[in-house]
Amino acid sequence: MAESPDPRLAAVRALNRVLPGQGDGASLREVLRRGVPDGSAGGLTRDLCFGVCRYLRPLNQWLNDQLDKPLKAKAQPVRLALLCGIYELWFSERPAHAVVNAYPELCRRLKAGWASGLANAVLRKADRTDAATVFADYPPAVAGSLPDWLWRQLQEDWPAQADELVQASLAPPPFTLRVDRRRQTREQAVALLGDGARPGELAPWSLYLSPPRPVTALPDFETGAFSVQDEAAQLPAEYLNVPAGGRVLDACAAPGGKTGQILEAFPDARVIALDLAEGRLARVRETLARLGVEAEARVGDAADPGGWWDGEPFDAILLDAPCSATGILRRQPDVKWHRRRADIPPLVDLQARMLDALWPLLRPGGRLVYATCSVLRAENDQQVAAFLARTDDARDRTPRPESAVAVTAGWQLLPRDGGPDGFYLACLEKAHPDQGGPNKKAIDPGS
Ligand SMILES: C[S@@+](CC[C@H](N)C(=O)[O-])C[C@H]1O[C@@H](n2cnc3c(N)ncnc32)[C@H](O)[C@@H]1O
Repeated sequence: MAESPDPRLAAVRALNRVLPGQGDGASLREVLRRGVPDGSAGGLTRDLCFGVCRYLRPLNQWLNDQLDKPLKAKAQPVRLALLCGIYELWFSERPAHAVVNAYPELCRRLKAGWASGLANAVLRKADRTDAATVFADYPPAVAGSLPDWLWRQLQEDWPAQADELVQASLAPPPFTLRVDRRRQTREQAVALLGDGARPGELAPWSLYLSPPRPVTALPDFETGAFSVQDEAAQLPAEYLNVPAGGRVLDACAAPGGKTGQILEAFPDARVIALDLAEGRLARVRETLARLGVEAEARVGDAADPGGWWDGEPFDAILLDAPCSATGILRRQPDVKWHRRRADIPPLVDLQARMLDALWPLLRPGGRLVYATCSVLRAENDQQVAAFLARTDDARDRTPRPESAVAVTAGWQLLPRDGGPDGFYLACLEKAHPDQGGPNKKAIDPGS
């Protein structure tokens, strides 16, 4: 039988691929799909990878402050091992002596025996150091573990909420499920899952499960009784408004979480699941097969319908646009270290081109739901406000609870500890040609 890899070694190898330095820029999720030990050892690997990505900036800062001379670039695996050790000492319940003892040996396994003494000294000091005191002395972008550009952008966009937003981005995300409404009521599902299950407050089929369970332990997961999906991400499909037998475009569909939800909500809808990435459409097919629903998967560019549209209008369109993913940093903390400020304007431009290109495909009276998992206003309310200003027959019909943060259009959710991710959605309705001038007001909550 093959020997299971050491969980700390597996973490260093994964981080070395993901984080800037020697890596190929692969996403943490992709890297963790393979090469992770089984069982609780795999849990430790994942915890170290997510933890180091979340707290990378303050961990690095403190480590640098301890070194007489900087570590060479080629010693990146040693650096990552030390960061894992510091993270474990400051943020896990594992016994300190076991943690301190593990890393000198890990350095030897990394063929960096020269660093064993260093690991011992640094981790002993970390064990005597109070993380909260260290963090309190750092500037906000360092303590909040964000690149400077993103911290400045969050402050500009959310002056009153930036600190809270950053804290939420450092907390582990909750485990959220969507119940297949065709199988059972949400109350039945909560009762079935028992202790630790509670319904979500916003999305009608959402439930939270704490502590998380492996999906294989969820009753009938394999046949689609539950899907793993954040509560905020469950909202766009709920607002689609599809008539019986209606035609729906899911314009950026892969991996198909929302396509499946549309078909649970509107089982007789004719759904086209479009995505630019052919390879990712395989994931859509897998998702739909598990749920036992069918859609037509099509490869195409949502910003250029000439290549794939057959001329028949859609009753409803979901545009779950590619975005900065700044609302889900707690789920994908490596995004902070991959994303550059220069990435944002091209994304904003692509989203605007998609909105303009898809709008003519919607029949009058139909609804387009625009969604992003971003908290940057340029991708969200500013994007939609500009679209409404240049599109006479578009109306903002977004239901918005009174507690929602005030934005110029649509509904912005900011990440909440134990609650939904940072997310944005706008319900845009197309006026009939005989309806008078544009009415840009949002409808009342709950109407
Ligand atoms: C936010 S993800 C969609 C998530 C999906 N709706 C779900 O719920 O599972 C954005 C998707 O947009 C796709 N995409 C990016 N550019 C596109 C384009 N020009 N046309 C169509 N799809 C595109 C990406 O391949 C990616 O799968």
